Amino acid sequence: MSEEKSVGSREKEFYYPSEEILANANVKAYEELYKKSITDREGFWADQADELHWFKKWNKVLDAAKAPFYKWFVGGKLNIVDNAIDRHLKTWRRNKLALIWEGEPGDVRTYSYHALNREVSKFANILKSMGVQKGDIVTIYMPQIPELAIAMLACAKIGAAHSVVYGGFSVEALAERIEDADSRVLVTADGGWRRGKITDLKTIANEAMKRSPTIEVCITVKRTGQQVYMENDRDFWYHDLMSLPVANQKCETEVMDAEDMLFILYTSGTTGRPKGLLHTHGGYAVYTATTHKMVFDIKEEDRWWCAADPGWITGHSYIVYAPLINGATVMMYEGAPNHPYPNRWWSMIEKYGVTILYTSPTAIRGLMRFGEAWPNRHDLSSLRLLGSVGEPINPEAWKWYHRVIGKDKCPIMDTWWQTETGGFMITPLPITPLKPGSATKPFFGNEIAVVDDKGVDVKTGEEGKLVIKSPWPGMARTIYKNPDRYVETYWKDYQQQGWYKAGDSARIDEDGYVWIIGRIDDVIKVSGYRLGTAEIESALVSHKDVSEAAAIALPHDLKGNAIHAYVILRTGITGSKELKETLKNHVSHEMGPIGKPESITFTDSLPKTRSGKIMRRVLKARALGQDEGDLSTLEQ
Ligand code: WT7
Repeated sequence: MSEEKSVGSREKEFYYPSEEILANANVKAYEELYKKSITDREGFWADQADELHWFKKWNKVLDAAKAPFYKWFVGGKLNIVDNAIDRHLKTWRRNKLALIWEGEPGDVRTYSYHALNREVSKFANILKSMGVQKGDIVTIYMPQIPELAIAMLACAKIGAAHSVVYGGFSVEALAERIEDADSRVLVTADGGWRRGKITDLKTIANEAMKRSPTIEVCITVKRTGQQVYMENDRDFWYHDLMSLPVANQKCETEVMDAEDMLFILYTSGTTGRPKGLLHTHGGYAVYTATTHKMVFDIKEEDRWWCAADPGWITGHSYIVYAPLINGATVMMYEGAPNHPYPNRWWSMIEKYGVTILYTSPTAIRGLMRFGEAWPNRHDLSSLRLLGSVGEPINPEAWKWYHRVIGKDKCPIMDTWWQTETGGFMITPLPITPLKPGSATKPFFGNEIAVVDDKGVDVKTGEEGKLVIKSPWPGMARTIYKNPDRYVETYWKDYQQQGWYKAGDSARIDEDGYVWIIGRIDDVIKVSGYRLGTAEIESALVSHKDVSEAAAIALPHDLKGNAIHAYVILRTGITGSKELKETLKNHVSHEMGPIGKPESITFTDSLPKTRSGKIMRRVLKARALGQDEGDLSTLEQ
């Protein structure tokens, strides 16, 4: 592995911003503002919050009395939708494009801020007429179509919360999220397009509703026109409802408390069921808008493309909320990057004049595989900034992205953050000298460290656990219905110090640059998607032939990591190639294709601790032919 050998040298390799970038960047100096933001954190965030519209100003910026249950902008009243839409309607931005959307088959829809407001208001009135009230949680399970953003914004407008379940998830994942959120209303679509095929969202939704009976109303957007089962009195077509008189274009935006729930978003954890991370109207609005404006240097004329799915936090924060708050024009695309040809993305950048592209290392590696000729057929000169998120980016992919896509003139913002953090935590700014593969330095207001188990800083350049030492406005407030788990998962390890444990290992080099290494818990990052080993294992064990299972991640060239599963079969069942395929497909059916194991190995036993916990680290070491480490707790 040539890359590994060059770790030392790559830490010295800087890429400097051009004069033009230095002269025009929204933030012109990092160190000074960083210092100020640390010595007067509340002052810094109050200044940022002042950029938003508040119905009533806050009394207190930060309330740490019940830490780690921090509160921000206490007493402040606002609505994130008032900031993302309503206030622009009073200016010329009313007629500015808010959204340019392209479907995979090539259909295009555009919305000005005025039109977006109309659609959001109409759907908000529909939700109200269905009895949705402030504080309710509406589950949204959709492909990447404008109605997904419209549904999210409509919920927030009337003070309901949304729980978006990624359209790539399947029956079990959807059912357990609906149930945890006690959702009465589900918004879905008859399907979506992906690689020329239809995804069966409504069929999956129907199956999930059988398993979790809380849903009373299911609203379905007609996207593909395929035949789907609709149940009388429960199922309604979106377009039917939107043409009713009750779908009025005027809808009052609810006045919300800064700390009121905006959404929950489920993410995978170390054990058991996914956690519903809860974000609020105030702090989240301030944090996402500020990070977006400063890191991606948002200007009035930008065409911003975050090529993630709104079903993940990246899409919530940086497709929907932050760019709309900043009055940007957002680009959204439904389908696969290589459909029908590997130039799909590059042709869209040229076609729409995209100025900033933000995507994942997996997508970059995937497109890199097809060679330079594909992007070189297109005029990509509109691009001025690039971004990366989701997993560490290997220097080879970074350099390709920089040279072939950015033509050596677009800085790459490698942003480290999490569902839990709401927005970017460690990230360059356009003015930051870059090192390929490093997320560089903490964003304003954030103090971070890499420490050992006791909380002592590890030596410069050594690997340790990444902690965040100070609160920030975008932080998740709790795990929905489970505050104990919130404390246990993130705050218990460094309780005395009051630090947040990120769950990642990292190194900080002698220039103070942060290098993220990867997860240290039983979370697997596959193609940047976050999965829990426990979820994969429980999907396997739900098959009648499986007695026990363990899932681990092994390095993969394209996906970063791939899932490998070890399975103990029930007595009397013999392992076969066919059974392996059956089990892989079973996991895919229960969880969605991203959970599908790359390989399955049948075994008679799994390494466990004496207390019965599977030692995945031992399985991983064995698979990689590495030292198995400390085996003192292994049951013999
Ligand atoms: C985990 C969080 C935040 C949006 C997408 C993921 C990994 C995220 C980076 C990066 C290295 C990264 C971490 C983190 N991660 N960004 N720039 N470099 N690793 O959100 O699904 O909550 O996953 O993604 O391991 O803990 P998420």
